[in-house]
Amino acid sequence: MNIKDERKKNMTTASRDSLEQATGELFSELWGPYDKQLFDESVELFFSRLRLASFDADWFKDKTCLDAGCGGGRNSIAMARLGASEVTGIDLGVKGLADAERRAEGMDNVQFECASILDIPFDDEVFDLVWCAGVLMITADEERALDELARVVKKGGYLYLLVYATEGMRWPLIQLLRPLATHLGRSVIEDAVASAGLASNKRRTFLDDLFCPRLDFYHWDRLSRMLADRGFHQTHRWDEGCRLDHEEDLASYRTDLESLLSIFVAGDSEEFGENRSLFESGRKAIEATVDSIRWFESAVSEGELSSEAAMDCVIGQGHHRVLAVKED
Ligand SMILES: C[S@@+](CC[C@H](N)C(=O)[O-])C[C@H]1O[C@@H](n2cnc3c(N)ncnc32)[C@H](O)[C@@H]1O
Repeated sequence: MNIKDERKKNMTTASRDSLEQATGELFSELWGPYDKQLFDESVELFFSRLRLASFDADWFKDKTCLDAGCGGGRNSIAMARLGASEVTGIDLGVKGLADAERRAEGMDNVQFECASILDIPFDDEVFDLVWCAGVLMITADEERALDELARVVKKGGYLYLLVYATEGMRWPLIQLLRPLATHLGRSVIEDAVASAGLASNKRRTFLDDLFCPRLDFYHWDRLSRMLADRGFHQTHRWDEGCRLDHEEDLASYRTDLESLLSIFVAGDSEEFGENRSLFESGRKAIEATVDSIRWFESAVSEGELSSEAAMDCVIGQGHHRVLAVKED
């Protein structure tokens, strides 16, 4: 390697490290405030996903699973409860991992480790299942991340990915709000979140979307090509024919954005001094989107549009949830 290449590699490594550090710090703080009930509900979500996808929960018995980017450990704990012989959760966020350990106390088939999915500290082909939910699109290097995830899956084993897709009114709005949030700063937004009185799960999703240092969106063709390039040809889409969470229907989608709106409404007040006008801009952008959704809702209720057609316009394919099999 010549000096120029060496310098380029070091710079890339440095920017990757600082991005990972910022990501780890952001997420570290987001899981702790979940109370027991909210956390249990988030574990329950894993089981309901399996049911919706008609995936046999008994499959987990005696399996070895990696929860890559485990956050506060909800999915690791769910897999361990289903009887996996060993579940390992890795993440960059030290406090999130400590929360996960606390919540998994007394379970002997789940462990947590601070590690990056860009350098997974395990040998090749050791896991029956690698679960990676909401992580790929925020990593510093998605190609390398996918290489690593693919490397540690056993032949014939599964890789589950959840990533943001390209459609729906939510993402352009988030893209518009991210620079405003960056300019306002995390602590000012946190004050507005507190004023708005948002629940800790809403706080987590909005702070995640507004502040994660990198955010990407995947068209299905791109994601399926990335998987096929790594020997994952058989893919089962878990969101085919069903909509989940706030994408269930127009009203849920709107209500979720109204929670986001409440942050900017709270910030658009005297209390926020010179930051008020930036909050006001954000508020107007969210209100415009909410108004558009209301238009579609009334078009449906007046019989001008079918509910499916309206949901395709407003929500579209907002996420990809895919279970892919590694070829033998
Ligand atoms: C949206 S959260 C999802 C957490 C968890 N998968 C869940 O569904 O509850 C994304 C998580 O990915 C983690 N993360 C981001 N980049 C990572 C990386 N390179 N290696 C390990 N974890 C990473 C973040 O720290 C964060 O906890």
